[in-house]
Amino acid sequence: MLDTSLRAATAGPSGLRPVNHLKFLADPARYLLRRVAPLPAEGFVPVSGRNGALLVARGQEAVRAFFAGKEALPRAGGGIFSLPPGHAWSGMFDTVLTANGPEHGRRRRLTAPAFHGSLTDTYRAVFTRTFASSRFADPESGTFDMVAEFRRIARVNMLVCLLGLPPAPENMRLAADVSGLLNSMLHPSVVLFRSFRPWTPYGRWTRKVERAHLALTGLVERKRAEPPARDALSMLCHTVDEEGDRLTTAEIAGELHGLFAAGYETTASAMTWSALTSMSRPDLVPDRLDLVVKETQRMLPPVALSLPRRVCEDIRTDDGGSAPANAVAFVAPLLEHRDPTVFDDPGRFRPERWEGFRPPPHAFLPFGIGKRRCPGAGFADLQVRTTLSLLFERSGWTLPDTRIGFRTESGIILMPDRPLPVRRARDRPLREVTGPLTALWRPADG
Ligand code: HEM
Repeated sequence: MLDTSLRAATAGPSGLRPVNHLKFLADPARYLLRRVAPLPAEGFVPVSGRNGALLVARGQEAVRAFFAGKEALPRAGGGIFSLPPGHAWSGMFDTVLTANGPEHGRRRRLTAPAFHGSLTDTYRAVFTRTFASSRFADPESGTFDMVAEFRRIARVNMLVCLLGLPPAPENMRLAADVSGLLNSMLHPSVVLFRSFRPWTPYGRWTRKVERAHLALTGLVERKRAEPPARDALSMLCHTVDEEGDRLTTAEIAGELHGLFAAGYETTASAMTWSALTSMSRPDLVPDRLDLVVKETQRMLPPVALSLPRRVCEDIRTDDGGSAPANAVAFVAPLLEHRDPTVFDDPGRFRPERWEGFRPPPHAFLPFGIGKRRCPGAGFADLQVRTTLSLLFERSGWTLPDTRIGFRTESGIILMPDRPLPVRRARDRPLREVTGPLTALWRPADG
């Protein structure tokens, strides 16, 4: 629970605290842009007034303190994510994402082989095959929703690369059920009323958790009986560390759930935004796609704000910033990536800025930084680049409707707020967009 008696040294947006907190929770990205971005960008800034319960770390000093905090800043949310104890499926939210301290280190170690560089060629071949079977590769596909299609591509790639399963309908249903658990939990009726009766929203949701757990543990047991293969699940089943430690079947089921929760929507978001921005710069794709992807990650970061951390002891930063113990804090790449002292003319989409440019590490963090940096960054980047290179290899694309909005999904992920119909078009660069997205991004000449 938020301790609303906390007081912060700096002031955040004015207004009624409960109203501000509700607006923030309803759409964090929009609230941060409208209310927090105009304030001085230094220190730990409350989301409302001087109430220090919910703080956003602004500027490189505070961001550094946030990520260097280690045990002083464990990942918060244990309360929200904890499941009733004593069931086989009670550990479905115990993953590298939610663990802290030595258990976090153990889980990072035992899941690392799933992202080993030796799997790059295997994963690239999967991404290429998935693209070939997508609507983007079908010359007859006409106009279709690119957000839905990137979601399907991301889900198929997770299914094949992580679980080693082909994209048959029953497997796609499993992937949808597993990746949907987190989102369906974030509904107020599930989070706020934790009555564990079969007919309550929370009771119904826990049955979904149980079904996903059963399906995943069955899969793990089958995999354990097979010889090692080149998919992440096989790696997790056969990994033993130097001390002879290995993940149990239930722990692997939890980790698979965590990887789907962390990796599916984020990658779909990255592909969607990079495809959109690429349409405005056909001169750069596919050859200089790397520049376009970086600049897109800067202006439209898929993870607009980090997962929250609990401040365990008072924090003081070198530049005079502070955060009181017991507050919940986070970093917003969405805001940090627009620092004019680091990025010249930050509101302008200029992929060329990345030619020979390396920003300070705490100013550009689409994948986080330090011990909790995204372990799937390489997998996601490879997927985005492989898919978009193929997308723009033979054809240009355009949007029939250029009014675009955005919203925050799962509390932290930046996505378009409605379908984005797309169709093939040679020599028709996207020259303008309208709608709320223009607060974040406009085409190069817009
Ligand atoms: C473009 C796509 C992606 C983006 C932008 C992204 C971004 C991030 C960020 C910013 C964090 C750190 C959050 C924090 O410190 O609060 C993170 C953590 C994590 N990501 Fe990703 N991610 C992406 C794709 C993936 C994929 C594909 C996977 C797995 C298949 C994955 C697995 C994870 C996990 C397990 C963590 C937790 C790490 C820890 O706490 O030690 N991510 N991601």
